[in-house]
Amino acid sequence: MYHNIFDSHAHYDDERFESDRHELLSSFPEKGVSGVICCGVDVPTSEFSVQLSKKYDFIYSAVGFHPLDHRDFYDGAFEDIKKLAADEKCVAIGEVGLDYHYEKDSRDIQLKLLEEQLILANELSLPVIIHDREAHEDTLNLLKKHKPRGVVHCFSGSVEVAREVLKLGMYIGLGGAVTFKNAVKPCEVAKIVPDDRLLVETDAPYMTPVPFRGQRCTSLHIPYTAEKLAELRGMTAQEILDMTDRNSRTLFRIR
Ligand code: NI
Repeated sequence: MYHNIFDSHAHYDDERFESDRHELLSSFPEKGVSGVICCGVDVPTSEFSVQLSKKYDFIYSAVGFHPLDHRDFYDGAFEDIKKLAADEKCVAIGEVGLDYHYEKDSRDIQLKLLEEQLILANELSLPVIIHDREAHEDTLNLLKKHKPRGVVHCFSGSVEVAREVLKLGMYIGLGGAVTFKNAVKPCEVAKIVPDDRLLVETDAPYMTPVPFRGQRCTSLHIPYTAEKLAELRGMTAQEILDMTDRNSRTLFRIR
C-alpha cells in the first residue's frame, strides 16, 4: 500500500461528496493520504474549505476566486477572502487564474480578478494556486509581473511554457490528465520538471485518472497518476509520492 499521498488540489465542497463526505475523508489517513489542499472558487466554497480543514488534521485550505466564478464577485469580497486567509490552516490563495476555453468575453474581468489576487497573495506572503486554461500567454505575463510563489495546477501548457513557469521559481501540478490516451503535452512536461518542483493533484471530483475516467475522482485515485509519472520519470510510484509530499509541504509551508 502507498503512503505519503499528498493531493495538492481538490474540491471537497462539491455536491458529489454530499452523501458520503465524512465517511470518505475520515478513511483517508488509513489509506495513505498524508495531506489534501481544499481549494475554494468563491467566498462560500472558500469558507467551506476552511471549515473542512478544522475538522480534519490532514486537510488545509486555499481561498480565492476562480476565473469562471467572477459573476459571484461582490463589493467587499476580497475583504472576506482576506479574513478567511488569516486562518492558521489556510496555506494559499486559490484557485485563481484565467480560463479562455470556457469564456473569452470575460477576459478583462478575469485578468483584473487574477491580478488583484496575485497582489493579495504577495501582501499576505501566501503562495498562489493558478488555473490556466488556454490562457498561457496572459497568465505568464501576470506571473512575470508579480512573481508570486505558487503552482500552476493541472498544467496543460507546452514544455516551453513549463520552462517559463519553472524559471519563475514556481511549481507544476500534474493530475489524472497524464493517464489520458490523448495527453501528449502533460506527459512531455512530466519528464522535464525537476524533482523539487513537481506536485501531484486530483482536482477531485474532476479529472479522474484511467481506468476510472468518468467516475467521481477522490484523492485515493492519486496512485494511478503517480504510477504513470513514475513510468515517465524512471522512478517508483512511492518515490513520486514521497517527493511530491515533501514538495507540497515546502511550497505550502506545512510542517
Ligand atoms: Ni480546481
